[in-house]
Amino acid sequence: MSASLDASERLGRDELEALQLERLRTTLRHAYDNVAFYRGAFDEAGLRPEDCRTLADLARFPFTTKADLRDHYPFGMFAVPEDQVRRIHASSGTTGRPTVVGYTERDLDTWADVVARSIRAAGGRPGHKVHVAYGYGLFTGGLGAHYGAERLGCTVIPVSGGMTARQVRLIQDFRPEIIMITPSYMLTLLDEFERQGVDPRSTSLKVGIFGAEPWTEAMRREIEERFAIDAVDIYGLSEVMGPGVAQECVETKDGLHIWEDHFYPEVVDPFTGEVRPDGEEGELVFTSLTKEAMPVIRYRTRDLSRLLPGTARVFRRMEKVTGRSDDMVILRGVNLFPTQIEEIVLRTPSVAPHFQLRLTREGRLDVLTVRAEARSGSGAEQRAAAAASIAAAVKEGVGVSVRVEIVDPETLERSVGKLRRIVDERP
Ligand code: DLL
Repeated sequence: MSASLDASERLGRDELEALQLERLRTTLRHAYDNVAFYRGAFDEAGLRPEDCRTLADLARFPFTTKADLRDHYPFGMFAVPEDQVRRIHASSGTTGRPTVVGYTERDLDTWADVVARSIRAAGGRPGHKVHVAYGYGLFTGGLGAHYGAERLGCTVIPVSGGMTARQVRLIQDFRPEIIMITPSYMLTLLDEFERQGVDPRSTSLKVGIFGAEPWTEAMRREIEERFAIDAVDIYGLSEVMGPGVAQECVETKDGLHIWEDHFYPEVVDPFTGEVRPDGEEGELVFTSLTKEAMPVIRYRTRDLSRLLPGTARVFRRMEKVTGRSDDMVILRGVNLFPTQIEEIVLRTPSVAPHFQLRLTREGRLDVLTVRAEARSGSGAEQRAAAAASIAAAVKEGVGVSVRVEIVDPETLERSVGKLRRIVDERP
């Protein structure tokens, strides 16, 4: 195994931290010298790049937010002349301007390396065929996965998202070992396999590398069982790089190892910004350590997780993301994440793994309705029992009352990429 690891995957913890500090100091200097925004922010905080003498000193530096990136739309955060930027991606964003990110030749090289490393940690090997169903285009999923798989020496099948019937056909005909896809779209494929009368457990697939949205252990069990594959988690975000910031190892499936030689993680209190010790839950913050075109210093992801010590690798792990703070619903003072509902819906017999959260307002009260799909063949009595059991489990596990509607099979919207769980119909 170790023969196939990258050099930095074989470092000791002390060597890794020395490398991180050196790269961090270089990055702070690069950002300060070449991006007006960072120079202004550091000056305002009374800090110079060389004030960062230890990794802990990073906590004195100001955060960067999505709003900062938007304010410098499109290229104001670039730290190199435009003619050195080889590729641009953008994350759609639900409101307003997209966030634009850029890569130099070397950044693209680094990105391919970390995705190759991710696919290898997931169990991929040179010669495997990789079906990429993440969207190609401005979204980083498709092209990010694509070049990483090529870098590892795999054969890429660049299907992109959509045309679900064709996805199923191609999996049968081309016989890939690996699929890279959002977990919610994998469930859409599952329906399509069944519609075509093909046993999803009979395919050539051995491993699924799932990310771009939160998913739970319950979803892992569902997908592994229905497809007879190993399901592992890949994490990333455009602002930091794209997919391949962190990856779960198939031999442990115990959270995602962060490729810490390129991305320095912190977890902070989402309200005060105070750094939290490893092991405590909070908002993930990343500083890029090697990026040229668009270094990011203490970028606030709004993703909630915890940092844990390394197991299968020297790098620290992040726990599976609980959710984005933007997707947190506050219902009569109780915080609720779609992943909590996912755990409950997926362990309820006679409902399918498809659900939606509908927020409405009655008078001055917010009301949350969990709409879950019945499995085909389930009768009125089973549906009523399922509704009661979901409502009781949410009350007990989350501490708040919700309504539950069990809807007919195949009526909820299916995902072809990132799924929006919450439908907010409040005025
Ligand atoms: O979603 C990059 C990506 C593509 C990751 C394919 C993995 C696979 P963005 O569109 O910028 O980039 O969205 C980033 O998606 O801040 C998280 O909220 C969420 N996210 C990504 N991966 C995971 C994951 C890509 N494994 C945002 N678990 C992030 C939970 C995830 N959330």
